[in-house]
Amino acid sequence: MLLSLSSQNVIQYLQAAGLCSLENGITDKSELPRSSKKNFNLRVKLGNNQQLLVQQEHRFEDEGNPHEFFNEWLFQQLLRQFPVLGNIAAIASLVVHYDAENSILVRNYLSDYLELQSFYQKNDIFPTEIATAIGKTIASLHRATFQRREYRDFMSTAPEGQFRYSFYNPAQGIDTLTPEIFGAVPKEALQFYTYYQRYECLESAIADLAYEWKPCCLTHNDLTLSNILLHSRWDKLDNCLVKLIDWEACAWGDPTFDLGTLIASYLKIWLSSLVVDPMLDLEESLQLAVTPLEVIQPSLLALIRAYLNEFPAILEHRQDFLARVIQFAGLGLIHQLQAKIKFQQHFDNADMSALHLAQNLLTMPEKSIHTVFGVSQLEIVALLAEKHQLAQPQKEQKLVRLYYEKTRLRGC
Ligand SMILES: Nc1ncnc2c1ncn2[C@@H]1O[C@H](COP(=O)(O)OP(=O)(O)O)[C@@H](O)[C@H]1O
Ligand SMILES: [Mg+2]
Repeated sequence: MLLSLSSQNVIQYLQAAGLCSLENGITDKSELPRSSKKNFNLRVKLGNNQQLLVQQEHRFEDEGNPHEFFNEWLFQQLLRQFPVLGNIAAIASLVVHYDAENSILVRNYLSDYLELQSFYQKNDIFPTEIATAIGKTIASLHRATFQRREYRDFMSTAPEGQFRYSFYNPAQGIDTLTPEIFGAVPKEALQFYTYYQRYECLESAIADLAYEWKPCCLTHNDLTLSNILLHSRWDKLDNCLVKLIDWEACAWGDPTFDLGTLIASYLKIWLSSLVVDPMLDLEESLQLAVTPLEVIQPSLLALIRAYLNEFPAILEHRQDFLARVIQFAGLGLIHQLQAKIKFQQHFDNADMSALHLAQNLLTMPEKSIHTVFGVSQLEIVALLAEKHQLAQPQKEQKLVRLYYEKTRLRGC
């Protein structure tokens, strides 16, 4: 990396890159709070009312070029190369500059939009219109790119000097407990690792999920509530309510992963509002949440219904679609816990409850559909099947192999 970007040198940098001129200078610049540890984010206001978000990846000594922004840039190139994907361009923010050498990405800053995560946290309301807009938006991305070989080939492009042999399979378990982990995590967090290791059915369910992972369309791959922006006048608009940002991980992938990750992000609101008391059992603790699941459930149902309504054909291709979504939601919860231990060095009883829930979602997905959405799979699919004249799956066909014989005998 040649340049370390700061609020002092950003003006020269943008001028040199041709993104602003002397007449059209910068009127204001402010550092944004980081949602991740890795990027430096700077918002810059230009004289012509335009606002830019300038991001640079942090790189550590002796690390090569991380290329994290490459995928986001490649995604923008895909939109440029195939104008037929114009609708997809409208759901993202425009990348105006990419500098691979210095790991810098400049996007249009969407000043009319706010982070959905903060909106939910601040207002503690969950209007279904918002979830419906998100479901439609994700479905439009998946549907427009579904099984299109030319887009897949385009997304196979690797950064200069590198090779991309295959796309990343996100169904990954957690590391086994080693002496290094012992020394690196707080004592309470060890129960997370021991629990994970004790219940082999968990690891088998993840292995099964990895085996069933079917890359077939363009996926965002980091679809959390902090990577969705909501229009400040969302309640007065009919479209463009939401935008998806942070496309660093986007690639050819499995649509069930995007939905599962997002559902896990919604479930986190409920799970992080649980009352922590060692005297309470799991059921009691889940019931006493400050933001109960019942408050979030209508949004989860609206999300999945809107998605399937927009992209009903996916059910013809994937009979196990909903079960896989639920399993990825379970895996998403496990990854959230892992990140919390790593970055916040914290693990408490509420986290243990989240781990139990994750286990249920991963190992009993059909049963858990009701837990998450508040209605059965049949109720979700029946209306849709009628409307779109889909073949309704038989009950037997919906059963999928969940874990291997060996672990089933262990009574998990
Ligand atoms: N185009 C944009 N318009 C407005 N705000 C944005 C935009 N892109 C990002 N942000 C804000 O900056 C934060 C960090 O950006 P993001 O691309 O998610 O990077 P990272 O999570 O990797 O730090 C977001 O959570 C959001 O609040
Ligand atoms: Mg982000």
